[in-house]
Amino acid sequence: MDSIIVRGNGALNGQIPIAGAKNACLTLMPATLLSEEPLTLTNAPRLSDIKTMTQLLSSLGAEVSDLQDGKVQAMSSHNIDNHIADYDIVRKMRASNLVLGPMLARLGHAVVSLPGGCAIGTRPMDLHIHGLEALGAEIELKEGYLHAKVPAGRLQGAEITLSFASVGATENILMAATLAKGTTIINNAAREPEIADLATCLRAMGAQIEGDGTSRIEVQGVDRLHGATHPVVTDRIELGTYMLAPAICGGEVELLGGRIDLVGAFCEKLDAAGVSIEETQHGLKVSRKGDRIRAVDVVTEPFPGFPTDLQAQMMALMCTAEGTSVLEEKIFENRFMHTPELMRMGANIEVQGGTATVTGVERLKGAPVMATDLRASVSLILAGLAAEGETIVNRVYHLDRGYERVEEKLGNVGAHIERVDGV
Ligand code: UD1
Repeated sequence: MDSIIVRGNGALNGQIPIAGAKNACLTLMPATLLSEEPLTLTNAPRLSDIKTMTQLLSSLGAEVSDLQDGKVQAMSSHNIDNHIADYDIVRKMRASNLVLGPMLARLGHAVVSLPGGCAIGTRPMDLHIHGLEALGAEIELKEGYLHAKVPAGRLQGAEITLSFASVGATENILMAATLAKGTTIINNAAREPEIADLATCLRAMGAQIEGDGTSRIEVQGVDRLHGATHPVVTDRIELGTYMLAPAICGGEVELLGGRIDLVGAFCEKLDAAGVSIEETQHGLKVSRKGDRIRAVDVVTEPFPGFPTDLQAQMMALMCTAEGTSVLEEKIFENRFMHTPELMRMGANIEVQGGTATVTGVERLKGAPVMATDLRASVSLILAGLAAEGETIVNRVYHLDRGYERVEEKLGNVGAHIERVDGV
């Protein structure tokens, strides 16, 4: 298994291109199941999670081709000849559950393995299930699989109020509703940019959707969807992650394709911490204002709040800030697994339930550390950039799920980082 070696760094300077959003792509790809005609996604990120989704869609009978070295996903779901999403694929990636809504809408039946828990929490699917049941599906859990069918033959529009603005549940219900009979209203819908991106793609396929990006989405079901070509929105989490690199090391880095509206709450916190963010013609330019970052408090929330997917990386920044910061994790119950690893590097962190209190130290010290999940692993790389000496991040397969060529992107702006073959 590969490892990444990072050596404490001086200033970073240059440009980093930001890829298309992993999380958008993982919901856009299952949308192919809604139509017999081809769906092509441009600006797709080259990640192992995208390969897993390709594997899943192919197992259902879809044809998926990686074009331009994976940057374009050309898909056709003309023949869907299998309706079972197998545990062996679903267990690798929770987003596999996003095939459930489209399969029910297109085929009227689907069997999808429950993803199970993952390192950051239990992550149930009750909201997906209740929403699809409200549209007329019958769903039963048998031997770890959700067996779903539509007794009436076609889903029927309904008004659904989510008890929590779940991203995945909003996406599954939205996709299913595009082919349902009549009107569907989703109240307390998630407002993440990836949902607006999905709605834009579905509209290009002929769906009638209004209100995406707000908490009330209205869908008028149509009889069929057609093919489309859609560019995947910029990855706001990759963007935020790389914005932290010059904040930690100093220097000035331009994030190509970066947009403030994707990371508004995050930018407010960076500004308060003493980071300068400037909009340019091609993206965002980021530099640290003074010698040392100031501590700021962070609470993770659904969009437009501070994203949980940037919490671990922000904690890496706070580890060397001046003062004490309090980071509250409100989305997932177990998302502080990076803290013991950061503490091995000399960070001063106390965790109590969903709250981490970080008292900044002058300098972290390099150490061998273990990546426990996707965002945790990149937080350890960022911390390594701020540390004296060498940090070896092991188990980087998590990283490859969500960051394309991290060592190349950071290396190009002057970071001392390399990938080595593991044993
Ligand atoms: C998506 C993102 C993930 C991000 C998360 C929150 C993808 C592929 N993944 O995950 O990177 O961290 O949004 O921004 O887009 N919940 C329930 N019941 C449900 C569904 C969710 O209780 O039926 C809970 C979860 O356990 C979690 C919270 O709601 O505590 C948020 O989950 P959700 O918004 O659904 O996240 P995902 O779609 O899984």
